[in-house]
Amino acid sequence: MRAYLAGSLTLAFVCSAAAQQFGSEDLAPYLPSPQAVVERMLEVAQLKQGETLYDLGAGDGRIVITAAQKFGANAVGVEISEALCKSMTRKVTALNLDSQIRIIHVNALKVDLTPADVVTLYLLTSSNARLRPNLEKYLKPTARVVSLDFGMPGWKASKMESVKADRQTRTIYLYQMSDRAADSKGK
Ligand SMILES: C[S@@+](CC[C@H](N)C(=O)[O-])C[C@H]1O[C@@H](n2cnc3c(N)ncnc32)[C@H](O)[C@@H]1O
Repeated sequence: MRAYLAGSLTLAFVCSAAAQQFGSEDLAPYLPSPQAVVERMLEVAQLKQGETLYDLGAGDGRIVITAAQKFGANAVGVEISEALCKSMTRKVTALNLDSQIRIIHVNALKVDLTPADVVTLYLLTSSNARLRPNLEKYLKPTARVVSLDFGMPGWKASKMESVKADRQTRTIYLYQMSDRAADSKGK
């Protein structure tokens, strides 16, 4: 069922179906990004060896695992579901990636993002808007934010790329924190 969902539904559709069960801490239901899209998101972010990536709403850990295995990065998976945190932690240990990946069971709205070079998001536009004050507060000018399918309200993307995966066209948004001063001047 999960594979079927991943292949054929978008997050917006699943969210509207699940809207009545949404609590105030919920930024999006669990729906994994296709692996080919994950790899392209990290390429678009120009994630480098030794940099630190935060995935806000880490799901099954595919972004943090790809960041560590394919890009040689350190990664922090932030996830509100205890069950997903437990299974990610088991997976990370089984893959011998404990020295590169940390899984934290916490609300992404409450995380100090100061160490992040790259932040990845696959949430809703309204959830991105809720995270925006913290991204602006914590991220350094060299940091990049990559968001799948949902843009960041009020920010101008430095790049938007369409990617085909599972017979769907997905959109990757790239934001450079160094451009944020220009956004506020333009208001
Ligand atoms: C659409 S999934 C994305 C999973 C993964 N990032 C990916 O791209 O494959 C969104 C994830 O965010 C998690 N989530 C929702 N609200 C959250 C919150 N407030 N803090 C941390 N994680 C949250 C959900 O449990 C779910 O696993």
